[in-house]
Amino acid sequence: MNRHLLSIRDLTADDVTRILDTAESFREVGTRVIKKVPALRGRTVVNLFYEGSTRTRISFELAAKRLSADVINFTTSGSSVSKGESLKDTALTLQAMGADAIVVRHSSSGAPYQLTRWLHGHVLNAGDGTHEHPTQGLLDLYTMREKLGRLEGLRVAIVGDVLHSRVARSLGFGLVTMGAEVTLVGPPTLIPPDAPAWGVEVSYDLDGVLPKLDVCYMLRVQTERQRLEYFPSVREYSRLFGLTSRRVEQLQDGALVMHPGPMNRGVEIDSDVADLPNSVIEDQVTNGIAIRMALLYLLLGAGGREEAA
Ligand code: CP
Repeated sequence: MNRHLLSIRDLTADDVTRILDTAESFREVGTRVIKKVPALRGRTVVNLFYEGSTRTRISFELAAKRLSADVINFTTSGSSVSKGESLKDTALTLQAMGADAIVVRHSSSGAPYQLTRWLHGHVLNAGDGTHEHPTQGLLDLYTMREKLGRLEGLRVAIVGDVLHSRVARSLGFGLVTMGAEVTLVGPPTLIPPDAPAWGVEVSYDLDGVLPKLDVCYMLRVQTERQRLEYFPSVREYSRLFGLTSRRVEQLQDGALVMHPGPMNRGVEIDSDVADLPNSVIEDQVTNGIAIRMALLYLLLGAGGREEAA
């Protein structure tokens, strides 16, 4: 593995399998009464979040704490960013205080890459603009493998606002690397023009795709990133591309419903559907801690030291 985690495209199938297997061994730590191991004692992890987050920030914090690292949470409000301090000076300041790893979320695609040019420590991408969200992709792969026993040959649809979705890019690339069959589904305006180069199929007909699936992965409609009118109305979007209570019946038995969160209940997914037994959205959140523990361990801990040697 590389020194940083910037994109899932930097990982081979063997890298992904190693990360998922390492997460498997850390999953058990979360079930103990004392949920802590000493693997990263004395190391410092900084969560540098320029955009809002519930799942990713908290699970990185929990992951680092469960590995006994010291954790600093940095958000822009209340910091010197409000006085105009740049990303570079902020990151150098945190490094000067002893940060071994910086976990960064930023609205600009490429911000984590830029940090690697200024810092000596490890950089982990927690979501950059519309580019990638590799730890989300990995926790989704983990959840699919956990529930369905394999990744190779799985038929997965990623449905909705693919154009603006860093999750869709990381998950799509990760699934293709692991030998799954991926179909991007959405209105033509929300499918990226370069989708065929991802190694995936494209469909504009959710009803035609649903009966063939092992996993139906719904994406959030990202109104905050949409600068144009991509569909006539939310009502029409939900009618054509929402996973409604009626539509979900077309899935075969055992097929999973997934969503990265946060959900717009009643827009891309009906509230009842989000709470069905085959909807594994909370498992995704739980597995996110184990995946982030595995990544911090492999980059900073014994795994990283073995790699360097
Ligand atoms: N899935 C995800 O990235 O959620 P948050 O924005 O809450 O971190």
